[in-house]
Amino acid sequence: MRIIKAKDYQDMSRKAANIISAQVIMKPDCVLGLATGSTPVGTYKQLIEWYNKGDVDFGDVTTVNLDEYKGLPRENDQSYYYFMHSNLFDYVNINPERTHLPDGTEPDAEKECARYEELIRSLGGADLQLLGLGHNGHIGFNEPADSFDTVTHCVDLQQRTIEANKRFFASIDDVPKQAYTMGIGTIMMAKKILIIVSGADKAEIVQKAFFGPVTPQVPASILQMHPDVTLVADEAALSKCEV
Ligand code: F6R
Repeated sequence: MRIIKAKDYQDMSRKAANIISAQVIMKPDCVLGLATGSTPVGTYKQLIEWYNKGDVDFGDVTTVNLDEYKGLPRENDQSYYYFMHSNLFDYVNINPERTHLPDGTEPDAEKECARYEELIRSLGGADLQLLGLGHNGHIGFNEPADSFDTVTHCVDLQQRTIEANKRFFASIDDVPKQAYTMGIGTIMMAKKILIIVSGADKAEIVQKAFFGPVTPQVPASILQMHPDVTLVADEAALSKCEV
């Protein structure tokens, strides 16, 4: 694993955007795996800035997002579809037909997860998968468990995740309780993985995930087994690691 230490959130965002741009420049028709959440917002902002300067072109890029809440329509401002459009897709020249997320409005979980997994496989997996890291070590919505979930599946969100997400909803009752997510196997299929982490509140989980034992209790720890992982984290997030 490559560890790139950034000074702060902004520096992390610029370094991560650099890696993504390099991927797009080297392979303009690449498949980018994307994430939502607060961590990648600055990275997407930086990519938009470089797109506006003519430094990066998304014209031939295909994207596959990690996850989506089950039951939220696309136009709900908390859906990941909405997030991706308002934080990236609407501001760059990506072809909307080549942007993919699980369809949260499909009530048949088995059908939707099989469709999404097949789609990713038919694209040959992501060339570069961007990930954030949950406080409990989750990646996508793969929560701590007794075994690693392999393929795209429907998850019951953990109470802690529901609590963390409630700031985005009017009340805790409105927070979706389930989501569709790529499985650990789907994520591990990516040729390269870029995981970005910021803030002292993630320092403990960064240490566990990347320097502790590989265990489904810390889903991100599986990344230690991937041949091409880059962790871009700021000093605060790396403060409990000796790097
Ligand atoms: C988002 C996702 C999640 C987040 C994680 C960290 O698509 O799959 O695993 O990456 O919850 O979220 P933030 O960045 O908000 O701390």
